[in-house]
Amino acid sequence: MKYEISFLLNNDKVTVEVDPVWTLLYTLREVFGLTGTKEGCGYGECGACTVIIDGQAVNSCIFPILEVEGRHVTTIEGVASKDGTMHPLQKAFVNEGAIQCGFCTPGMIMSAKALLDAKENPTEDEIKDAIEGNLCRCTGYVRIIDAIKSVSKGR
Ligand code: FES
Ligand code: FES
Repeated sequence: MKYEISFLLNNDKVTVEVDPVWTLLYTLREVFGLTGTKEGCGYGECGACTVIIDGQAVNSCIFPILEVEGRHVTTIEGVASKDGTMHPLQKAFVNEGAIQCGFCTPGMIMSAKALLDAKENPTEDEIKDAIEGNLCRCTGYVRIIDAIKSVSKGR
């Protein structure tokens, strides 16, 4: 049996029929075609699937789709401006060389965005805490942290 839910997806109101066993990640990728959000582990350990719900970074692979009703979901596709101008975090990741294979990058940027939206000038420890659930298999953490720092106001 399917249920109809409505929510804000990258600032657009969407209504969709979902199976209650679906996760948010499955729905984003398979129903909406938003494949920027990656599936790594699939059980909440790697952060590749990170999106922002009502200001909080969450692992979409373990987030039940029915709990998205009425909420505001932002994915990596909703981070750049409508005209395609990259978000400062996206520019910083490019400029600081913080992208290797790129698989972790969308999740890293979403975790960093949730942090910087809540706090313009986080400490290095706060940056590390914000991305502690995001694994980079290429181990490029130093440049990732540098990129996030470069966007924060107090550098
Ligand atoms: S795919 Fe969701 S945490 Fe790894
Ligand atoms: S850049 Fe390859 S996993 Fe992070």
